[in-house]
Amino acid sequence: MSDAPVFDAPVFDAAFLERFDTLLRWRRDVRHFAATPVAEEDVQALLEAATLAPSVGNAQPWRFVRVRTPAVRALLADHVDAENVRAASGFEEPARRDAYRALKLHGLREAPELLAIFCDERPAAGHGLGIATMPEMLRYSCVTAVHTLWLAARARGLGVGWVSILEPAAVSALLDVPQDWTLIALLCLGHPEAPSHTPELERRGWQAREPLADRLFER
Ligand SMILES: Cc1cc2nc3c(=O)[nH]c(=O)nc-3n(C[C@H](O)[C@H](O)[C@H](O)COP(=O)(O)O)c2cc1C
Repeated sequence: MSDAPVFDAPVFDAAFLERFDTLLRWRRDVRHFAATPVAEEDVQALLEAATLAPSVGNAQPWRFVRVRTPAVRALLADHVDAENVRAASGFEEPARRDAYRALKLHGLREAPELLAIFCDERPAAGHGLGIATMPEMLRYSCVTAVHTLWLAARARGLGVGWVSILEPAAVSALLDVPQDWTLIALLCLGHPEAPSHTPELERRGWQAREPLADRLFER
């Protein structure tokens, strides 16, 4: 079998790299959504983009659940709101607790689309390659799919909000998924109310981005 490419490989020129950098800088976690629906072809394009992500052993362990039932959406939002109240009470310092309460940390009631991404912990694809010592690689693979979807959404002017203030087992039960699936992400998807260059947590004084130099080590 020949390894020769069937198509000419594209060249990503300087102009593309600059645009790509802009995409990375303008990707945001979004919690404020306009009511405008997301075009079905965009939803499909995002899901297809997510499946281009890398995965251990090419196992493609991601499983996508679209939340289409209003009653299920309402139960998810109620669950996250309840967990959010619990999380707030975990902050002992009153000023920090008040600051936490003032944050908007999900758009589950307004976002036009909700998507849950699960990891199939026993995927048939991949034949177990790469997970003998680090089975968590399957979950990491699903995270790469989430990030791929996130960027593909932003490139189309859509926003994604990752919601993690929840009990994964409760969400799995609400979405009635197989036992072998682990929740990776609950995502809100829609048109952002306003695009932003700066993370919302930074704009609200909770946590700013920090310099790479503080995160880079050499040995
Ligand atoms: C794994 C993960 C979980 C997150 N969970 C939440 C969440 O529950 N609620 C929320 O408002 N943002 C959540 N975020 C978004 C982060 O707050 C956000 O990525 C960070 O503040 C940086 O902002 P940016 O994504 O706009 O650059 C999550 C992000 C990641 C990667």
